[in-house]
Amino acid sequence: MTLPSSSQASGTAGPALQARNIVWHHSTVTRAARAHQRGHRSAILWFTGLSGAGKSTLANAVNSALFEQGLACYVLDGDNVRHGLCSDLGFSDADREENIRRIGEVAKLFLDAGVVVLTAFVSPFRADRQRARELVEPGDFLEIHCAAELEVCEQRDTKGLYARARAGEIKDFTGISSPYEAPDNPELRVATGEVNLDGCVAQVLQELERRGIIPEPAEP
Ligand code: ADX
Repeated sequence: MTLPSSSQASGTAGPALQARNIVWHHSTVTRAARAHQRGHRSAILWFTGLSGAGKSTLANAVNSALFEQGLACYVLDGDNVRHGLCSDLGFSDADREENIRRIGEVAKLFLDAGVVVLTAFVSPFRADRQRARELVEPGDFLEIHCAAELEVCEQRDTKGLYARARAGEIKDFTGISSPYEAPDNPELRVATGEVNLDGCVAQVLQELERRGIIPEPAEP
């Protein structure tokens, strides 16, 4: 199994260190050792898209499929993380930047722990996603654009938030009063507004197989 070298101590991106007199400790259990023991490598699957595009649904369905195959996997979901780790943040541009910075760092820890981590955040700004990507080695970060059109998301309006945003009750709402910058060159784009869930899951799993993150299914 080939693994890119660990970037755990890279210290790239993010704000400058505020604490002084701290020294990085290297773990004696390496990422490569974990991958060898588990029989698969870790990765960050970064789902991005409008609210209602199906990020959480797709990430959870892929997570279930990976779990069924015996892989170590975990979903970090925007709505959930904002109840805890990021409960101090709102939806200003600066707060979204900090939200994504934290998630990038947490995802990096999961990567080092040998887990396929699936993040489901609107993550509307290219620069913020790029910073998260740069925290890890090339090949460890797969950007998956859930590319449902705004009209489709608004029609679905599963949480009733678009109607409230249109009525002016929610400010800075992505797609309505705050921009969404679609990825130019994601590792995978899934038409979550058109293709059904099983089809979308199959596309993601195929991409993971193609990249050697999960094993190809055995011949019958
Ligand atoms: S992000 O922009 O910082 O990446 P995040 O994914 O954590 O956003 O949270 C988005 C979720 O919060 C949406 O799915 C939606 O349910 C809810 N939400 C509440 N207010 C807003 C808003 N102003 N813009 C976008 N989503 C919002």
